[in-house]
Amino acid sequence: MEFSGKKSIITPECVLIIGTYDENGVPNAMNAAWGMQSDEGEITIMLSKHKTTENFEKTGAFTVAFGTADTVLISDYFGVESGKNVNKIEKAGCHTHKSAHVDAPIIEEYPLTLECRVRNWDPSSGYLIGEIVASQADESILTDGKVDLGKLRPIIFDPSFNAYRVVGEVVGKAFSDGLKLK
Ligand SMILES: Cc1cc2nc3c(=O)[nH]c(=O)nc-3n(C[C@H](O)[C@H](O)[C@H](O)COP(=O)(O)O)c2cc1C
Repeated sequence: MEFSGKKSIITPECVLIIGTYDENGVPNAMNAAWGMQSDEGEITIMLSKHKTTENFEKTGAFTVAFGTADTVLISDYFGVESGKNVNKIEKAGCHTHKSAHVDAPIIEEYPLTLECRVRNWDPSSGYLIGEIVASQADESILTDGKVDLGKLRPIIFDPSFNAYRVVGEVVGKAFSDGLKLK
């Protein structure tokens, strides 16, 4: 059955929270679902023009935190209000400090954050490519020094129902289960 025309359902769509500073050092955050790993140490995100894009055009840097089951409310808020109108970080009751590596804020309410330098930004296509120069993770989401998605409980954006879903159970072993058929 053909359905939905041009609106494709390609999952998962992440909930990436992009943190930036404006020219006065005021932190901002926005929600972006269209992003992905595009190389080792590289992230690509598709963006329209926002306060966020104005900010990183000036600073050359941004952070990316991952929306989680515990941060749904603030994560959605960061996608339905603009930093052009209000200080979203303050309104959401969030706390920030400056990344030690790039000119962008780390939002302390999120347990995992990438610190990125703008590698390429093309406003006409909307493709932002960032070099991931460092990452910060709370101890609480690590197991044996590795990010444990079971502890992080990242959310994805569900475009069918405009919902957020939590990333769930382990159902197999990568590079391993398929070997049985080889
Ligand atoms: C679930 C969700 C996903 C979104 N994904 C994107 C996206 O991938 N790209 C984009 O340009 N805007 C996206 N937005 C819209 C921006 O987050 C929104 O316009 C926001 O107000 C921009 O904030 P700013 O003006 O403070 O930068 C999304 C919003 C929501 C709620």
